[in-house]
Amino acid sequence: MTTATTTSARTAADPLALNDVDHVRFFVGNAKQAAFFYAYTFGFQISQYSDLTTGSRADASYLLTQGNIRLLLTTGLNPDHPAQQECLHYGDGVKDIAFTVDDAEAAYKRAIANGGVSAYEPTTMRDEHGSVTMGGIRAAGRVVHSFVSRRGTYDLSKVKRGGLFGPLFASAGPLGVNEHNKKHPCGLMYVDHAVTNVEEGKMNHWVDWYEHVLEFKMFKHFDDKDISTEYSALMSKVMASGNHLIKMPINEPAKGKKKSQIQEYLEWHDMMPGIQHLALRTDDALGSVAELRRRGVDFLSLPDTYYEVVWDRVNKTLREHGHEAVKEDHDRIRDLGLLVDADDEGYLLQLFTKPLQDRPTLFFEIISRHGSQSFGKGNFKALFEALELEQERRGNL
Ligand SMILES: [Fe+2]
Repeated sequence: MTTATTTSARTAADPLALNDVDHVRFFVGNAKQAAFFYAYTFGFQISQYSDLTTGSRADASYLLTQGNIRLLLTTGLNPDHPAQQECLHYGDGVKDIAFTVDDAEAAYKRAIANGGVSAYEPTTMRDEHGSVTMGGIRAAGRVVHSFVSRRGTYDLSKVKRGGLFGPLFASAGPLGVNEHNKKHPCGLMYVDHAVTNVEEGKMNHWVDWYEHVLEFKMFKHFDDKDISTEYSALMSKVMASGNHLIKMPINEPAKGKKKSQIQEYLEWHDMMPGIQHLALRTDDALGSVAELRRRGVDFLSLPDTYYEVVWDRVNKTLREHGHEAVKEDHDRIRDLGLLVDADDEGYLLQLFTKPLQDRPTLFFEIISRHGSQSFGKGNFKALFEALELEQERRGNL
């Protein structure tokens, strides 16, 4: 009883209380084909679709699920559709990080009252099973945050148990790739963080935007300071939603010895800010990365020298703060090419894919946390050397 009272009191007082990451929508050139790429390489279930055959006349979407991750891949079916327009300029990428709230209209109104700009007004899709209300506000560049509220059979708790995602969606039925993925899970659980790249000088503007419009808070950690070094050539600050449901680091390019990776992203994204990477959380980084490698996922490789120094650095930090050393087998971590970092709260294992499409824009990070709540700051130098090598191969340095 107490919980129910607290929840409704919180909702009445706080329309921007986020219940979950409802989905991450990608705009892609060909959703039907992209669905199989992400399903095969990263182990997602192709759960549902919405297209001409289900009555969707303007676009086709595929819902991919794994753990509590829901990716919605959308293609426009005519040249004027926004998804087609954006693919022309930016290639495939993330369009919308959508949040489940109790009342999408109230959340939208609150964000607008806080100074947000509308991407689209709240609208409700309804059928005999229930309804889905969505309204969106514009974040940095092309990025939208939609607020989603669900009623009836489309309630998110039911969607998580396999219920339909909304009106005009149908179950994808039995697929070989889905059966394969059930037998060989990749272990990805949820979106740990989503990073936005913005133009030089705009990071603080967007930090303020998340603070005021979405009522996020600066994530208090050493990583929230500027992390520009002679190698890193970027600055980043991390914003977190009220309940730490999701963290949103904001990156901007900084002057360095070489062209910033953020600048490279912008140049291949029509100089438009957007999502640089989604970090997908696993409890078993070794198991996940072994399976992803087996499937052919292309990860950044590190200089050989990385593992000559990393254990001293990481285990020293852990010892100083009274934590156990990294428990996973060190040789196996090296063989899988995982990165390791530690801070006062513990350690993390992480690894970054190469770009997921032909343009050097969006990529994924695989991350497992063992106490550490930071973002791998200690790996920046090694990572930037690896990234510079990749940029050089692409002729973009
Ligand atoms: Fe990250």
